[in-house]
Amino acid sequence: MSRLVNKHIIVAVSGGIAAYKSAELVRLLKAAGAQVEVVMTHGASEFITPLTLQALSGNAVHQLLLNAKAEAGMGHIQLARWADAVLIAPASANVIAKLAQGLADDLLTTLCLATQAPILLAPAMNQAMWSNAATQCNKKQLQQRGYTVLGPANGAQACGDIGPGRMIEPTQLLEYLTQQFTGHALQGRKVVITAGPTREAIDSVRYISNHSSGKMGYALATAAYESGAKVVLISGPTSLLAPPDVHRVMVENTNQMLTASQQACVDADLFIASAAVADYRPVHVSLQKIKKSATASRLVLELEENPDILATIASQFSHLTCIGFAAETEHVIPNAQAKLACKQVAMMIANDVSDNDIGFNSDYNRVSLVTKTGVEHLETQPKRLLARLLIDRLAQL
Ligand code: CTP
Repeated sequence: MSRLVNKHIIVAVSGGIAAYKSAELVRLLKAAGAQVEVVMTHGASEFITPLTLQALSGNAVHQLLLNAKAEAGMGHIQLARWADAVLIAPASANVIAKLAQGLADDLLTTLCLATQAPILLAPAMNQAMWSNAATQCNKKQLQQRGYTVLGPANGAQACGDIGPGRMIEPTQLLEYLTQQFTGHALQGRKVVITAGPTREAIDSVRYISNHSSGKMGYALATAAYESGAKVVLISGPTSLLAPPDVHRVMVENTNQMLTASQQACVDADLFIASAAVADYRPVHVSLQKIKKSATASRLVLELEENPDILATIASQFSHLTCIGFAAETEHVIPNAQAKLACKQVAMMIANDVSDNDIGFNSDYNRVSLVTKTGVEHLETQPKRLLARLLIDRLAQL
């Protein structure tokens, strides 16, 4: 399966004859399973109509920075956050110069300043413009800032010149973009991740659980796979789809999650416990639905403690690097430090679940990395970007 499946790709088209190739690029991206939003500069729409790219991407094309309608829907900041990668193809000399200067006078440049996603650009221009010292200097600056410059190719140009300046072919751009989601940090490693809530039955129709969506664990599974790992995702009940090429084991309750984790961890290298595990379960599970009592206005449920999956795995598998999440509503760091010591793990990723903007069901998270040697606070960011960052850090462990 292509690594671009469900990836959020922005194709940004600037003015140049190579803009006609963007149509094929969008088509290839869609065929690879990516979700595509197209941004066009005014110049681009002189070469290719927005309607063409709308039809191919399946989404209205974004053209204006200050557009009341667009800002109410997918405005420039939402677009910037939505993106897993931005591919500027073709990138004109003017766009490269504006980006090098940090200008933000249209949608494309503003988006590039606002996004945390990787930006790739495929220059296309006359060979003399490409070789000009100004363009070369701008290109160098962008590379130093982390932009990936793809091409240009050498050859015959639309203007009749021969030399470097042709946009590289859409099939090649697709390959480069795919590589963007193919890391090697965890190559050859096996990663086991727990995710989502667990459910503890009260009777045949009721259970105790929590609001965990599983989004963080699923994002981690995708990021670990993209870093080259073999991934087993042990998931409590959630409506999320299994990430492509990740082996998912669905479980209901804590004991099942523990058994599945023990089985998967035998030959694993890294265990990430992101599940929101029910700490207690009812002592007696009624096989029939418990009926409302005609005489008593109170019902007392007796609960017994569940096993601690993370602590059990950490103590049983000494070769494993174990990581936990500390979901806290107060004293976040001291509580996470206490869990780090008590569960004997390499790192606790602490987050404040009382904050609705970054809590269980949100697409965003803000965490602190707590280890024996210190605490590192990370910015609020989309869970899928955070997942990649976390996987890179964990690979270093
Ligand atoms: N965890 C686990 N098994 C449990 C409880 C928690 O594996 N029975 C794991 C979670 O997946 C998480 C870490 O332990 O990685 C911390 O979970 P958390 O709910 O924050 O803390 P608890 O240990 O349950 O303690 P408390 O509920 O008192 O905060």
